[in-house]
Amino acid sequence: MTTNDIICGDAIAELLKLPERSAQLIIADPPYFQVLQGEEWDNQWKSEDDYLEWSIRWTRAAARTLKDDGLFYIFGQLGKREHIWLHFCSLVAKELQFHDMIIWDRAVGYNERYDSFTPCYEMILALRKSTDAKPYFNKDAVRLPYEEEKIRAYLRDKRYKDKTARLLHLEKGKYATNILRVPSLKGSSKEKAGHPSQKPEKLIEQLILSSSRPNDVVLDPFLGSGTTAVVAERLERQWIGIEINPNYIQIAERRLAELRAKKEAPLFKTISS
Ligand SMILES: C[S@@+](CC[C@H](N)C(=O)[O-])C[C@H]1O[C@@H](n2cnc3c(N)ncnc32)[C@H](O)[C@@H]1O
Repeated sequence: MTTNDIICGDAIAELLKLPERSAQLIIADPPYFQVLQGEEWDNQWKSEDDYLEWSIRWTRAAARTLKDDGLFYIFGQLGKREHIWLHFCSLVAKELQFHDMIIWDRAVGYNERYDSFTPCYEMILALRKSTDAKPYFNKDAVRLPYEEEKIRAYLRDKRYKDKTARLLHLEKGKYATNILRVPSLKGSSKEKAGHPSQKPEKLIEQLILSSSRPNDVVLDPFLGSGTTAVVAERLERQWIGIEINPNYIQIAERRLAELRAKKEAPLFKTISS
């Protein structure tokens, strides 16, 4: 199995060629089904049933590659048209074990609607292999810093006698909740690489840091512009990405080349006097 390379092809066909139980972590951001009107890849199915039948086939093919202690994250969203995601979650939770539902709070609304609140979040369904499977998850890797004011208030609290121990504890930060607030990428963002549903690196980073160790294999069957690959490589994981559209592969390769060039660049700067 070759890692750190993009496979150009159909997700199901390519997933079936990968060895069983080879991935520690799967991050899948599949087509939504008729949400992006101008995108051919989001409009390949004749009906909701076709889409759901395909969805079950690719999730089965991906689950085959998951290690017993691995986690499998699948992106989806609800909005005006995207109720299909509910059917998908219900079907897939019969195939694999439901583990969690993570909310990605995009901070800025999208797909405005006037008959309800403005949609502002997406979901990340987390699955594991079976009820008995104990997935690897490192909460310490994704702790969040306490606000300065909170730290000062905790230190003033008379109940804590050993202030040094308390400060050390507070400096480690607090556990992240399953609501991940990461602003979605604006058109003007430097990170934006030319894919209509590119995910922010900061968001993918939290999934990779918490759910894999260095050198583990991270698999993304719908790689798009390569966000998972770029973050996995930066964090020294191995990765495998599958993408059907060669134009998106070009974007991903450009992002990877930029990352590799940065990694190889000398760390010192000439200090001008
Ligand atoms: C929602 S996007 C993924 C975006 C990605 N997370 C990023 O940050 O750029 C879904 C991707 O799936 C790809 N795709 C659609 N059908 C596919 C298939 N059968 N096999 C592999 N990739 C497919 C599309 O070309 C699209 O780039």
